Amino acid sequence: MKSIVVLISGSGSNLQAIIDACSSGFIPAKVSAVISNKANAYGLVRANDAGISTQVLSHKTYSSRDKYDAALMDAIDQHKPDLVVLAGFMRILTPAFVQHFTGRLLNIHPSLLPKYQGLDTHQRAITAGDSEHGCSVHFVTEQLDGGPVILQAKVPVFSDDDALSLAERVHEQEHRTYPLVVRWFCQNRLQQQADQAWLDGNVLAANGYA
Ligand code: GAR
Repeated sequence: MKSIVVLISGSGSNLQAIIDACSSGFIPAKVSAVISNKANAYGLVRANDAGISTQVLSHKTYSSRDKYDAALMDAIDQHKPDLVVLAGFMRILTPAFVQHFTGRLLNIHPSLLPKYQGLDTHQRAITAGDSEHGCSVHFVTEQLDGGPVILQAKVPVFSDDDALSLAERVHEQEHRTYPLVVRWFCQNRLQQQADQAWLDGNVLAANGYA
């Protein structure tokens, strides 16, 4: 059975969706460990409740990003994961970290990439007057929020939306898309080759599987 390490910084609702999908057998894998850079991340409670080992590795105790990422790499490697899942892990990763896990490092981002890389994506979509918004699951490359997209889900933006109501609608889709992509990976159906994502031997379009 494949082993997954999940990195979080906050609520961990995507972590929960992945834990649930492993428990039900939808994802043929187990979450071996959850690592957070924040001690108060609620996702740690979720992991404990599911009997998953947890670790807090605070970036504040390291003098540089390089040193933190080296320690994080070691902490992850202890679990010999087949896949590393970023689920609301709010840190920019060093090239050395990304290279070490290339091809087995996934992220979810709350926008229809390449739109709205970075933070505040929901407010930016509203301010721009977009009629649709969504989320993207992608392989991580050295380019921030720039790796090949695997799957996107779209939601409508309503005229009375605020960032919170829109975030809730996107979150629902995140909880569907992330487990599906992790399932594909764990079924050996999904690969990264340089700047492309492949599913079942077919290269995916720039905006992922449709
Ligand atoms: C999710 O909306 C995820 O897309 C976002 O953080 C949230 C975490 O929620 N990630 C990023 O913004 C990464 N750039 P969760 O802790 O409830 O899963």
